[in-house]
Amino acid sequence: MKILVTGGAGFIGSAIIRHIIKHTLDAVVNVDKLTYAGNLESLTGVSDNDRYAFEHADICNAAEMARIFAEHKPDAVMHLAAESHVDRSISGPAAFIETNIVGTYVLLEAARNYWSALPDDAKKAFRFHHISTDEVYGDLPHPDEHPLALPLFTETTAYAPSSPYSASKASSDHLVRAWLRTYGLPTIVTNCSNNYGPYHFPEKLIPLVILNALEGKALPVYGKGDQIRDWLYVEDHARALYTVVTKGVVGETYNIGGYNEKQNLEVVHTICDLLDEIVPKAVSYRSQITYIADRPGHDRRYAIDASKIGRELGWKPIETFESGIRKTVQWYLDNPRWVENVKSGAYKTWIEQNYEKR
Ligand SMILES: NC(=O)c1ccc[n+]([C@@H]2O[C@H](COP(=O)([O-])OP(=O)(O)OC[C@H]3O[C@@H](n4cnc5c(N)ncnc54)[C@H](O)[C@@H]3O)[C@@H](O)[C@H]2O)c1
Repeated sequence: MKILVTGGAGFIGSAIIRHIIKHTLDAVVNVDKLTYAGNLESLTGVSDNDRYAFEHADICNAAEMARIFAEHKPDAVMHLAAESHVDRSISGPAAFIETNIVGTYVLLEAARNYWSALPDDAKKAFRFHHISTDEVYGDLPHPDEHPLALPLFTETTAYAPSSPYSASKASSDHLVRAWLRTYGLPTIVTNCSNNYGPYHFPEKLIPLVILNALEGKALPVYGKGDQIRDWLYVEDHARALYTVVTKGVVGETYNIGGYNEKQNLEVVHTICDLLDEIVPKAVSYRSQITYIADRPGHDRRYAIDASKIGRELGWKPIETFESGIRKTVQWYLDNPRWVENVKSGAYKTWIEQNYEKR
């Protein structure tokens, strides 16, 4: 099958493309605008494969999306292109509304126009898989306040997004479900917890802490660092998403999580302790931890009940947090060139020289 992946130069999208090219016989069309978060170097080793094609395009551009569907004739869409950083959504929400809501609408319409003209068999087999976040559910009781009531997010938890980012993702989830209900477009939605792993842009907690620690900089922790996230290794997420797009049932939602609830401070301590072991210095990396004012509207706890995807599609995570975080720290130590290029802007210059903007 041929899968059109949007946002395939990003953190999770590139993990999916690496998974598809390395572990399946399927073909991929990567549609990516290459914002600051997109990086084609994350696809080194798979982008020269005959089954891979790249389209440098914005999902908000309807004419481009129509052309891409007509030219590539995909059997499925995996939609990941998004603005994804909560802090940026607080300082500048406009891009989140544009890409996450309007862009999803434009893509749905391009997919619907293409799909409605397919022969019956292909029409039935087509999938539009929308990749979303557990942040649409808002936050859960924290053990500090509710020691006896620790529910998890399930597929039927009511939506209650807190940030411009999560509100824009919630809106896009609603659009996707409406396109199934109203037009019959065969959609599936997945909502996943926090991912971590290789090729993660160094503005997010885990890569930021690893790289700041190595550079002797402050390790910023919001508030008391007691916010709880459920961490999933990105390659486990990629396997889950491929399972859903190939075996998932149309109209269903699948929650995906790692069963790894950790307080942010615990995550930072784990990274410091691993660095103390692998690249020790005179004082522990923990001494660089700095507490900063909490982010407005900061959700206190996320935790996913991923039993449905396990029970119905047979997926479960392979990595524990301990194995995954060790691999991640080692990856950043082994790939200074990727980090340098992402941070220095050299990569962006290369893109400007090599790809004409459409
Ligand atoms: N990172 C997580 O922990 C996490 C967890 C759950 C769900 N998600 C969802 O998974 C998806 C991917 O997340 P990520 O962490 O890989 O994000 P990312 O920020 O690393 O990558 C986003 C990609 O989308 C591209 N993009 C942005 N705007 C675009 C546009 N208008 N047109 C085309 N391409 C565009 C960027 O260039 C980039 O390559 C997002 O939809 C996000 O909401 C992320």
